[in-house]
Amino acid sequence: MLGHPRTISYLKRAVSHEFSAVQQFTLQAVQAERLGLGSFADELRAGAVDELRHAEAFIRRLHELGAGSPSVQVAARPVGRTLTELLGFGMATEADAMRLYFEALQFCDGMADVGNAALFEHIHDDEVQHYQELERRMRGTARS
Ligand SMILES: [Fe+2]
Ligand SMILES: [Fe+2]
Repeated sequence: MLGHPRTISYLKRAVSHEFSAVQQFTLQAVQAERLGLGSFADELRAGAVDELRHAEAFIRRLHELGAGSPSVQVAARPVGRTLTELLGFGMATEADAMRLYFEALQFCDGMADVGNAALFEHIHDDEVQHYQELERRMRGTARS
């Protein structure tokens, strides 16, 4: 199985996105801890592990396509100080992932590349879930 150069590029962008999400959620977990939000800190840590698994899945696919280990730049994403900021910045990250993976999925679909379309679709759906969890918590925060 060989990938279109644009598919390889989407996979590399995906790895970079996932690592920057891991960094952001790890920094946010410590900030949440400092705010006395222990259970939210645990959720952020679990979220960081989810994103790490996503990075691994994309890296594995790059190897399967013969593209080797990507060397990626990890962009710094904002952490936030308050709970509302943590949630807002996290939601922005999930929304970026949803946009990127949807675009990649449409490209792969157009190329009749079923395997890569399925990978992007699967991870896109995880990001939608992540987004919805943060959104639910944001609504709860607004009420309290
Ligand atoms: Fe992810
Ligand atoms: Fe996510």
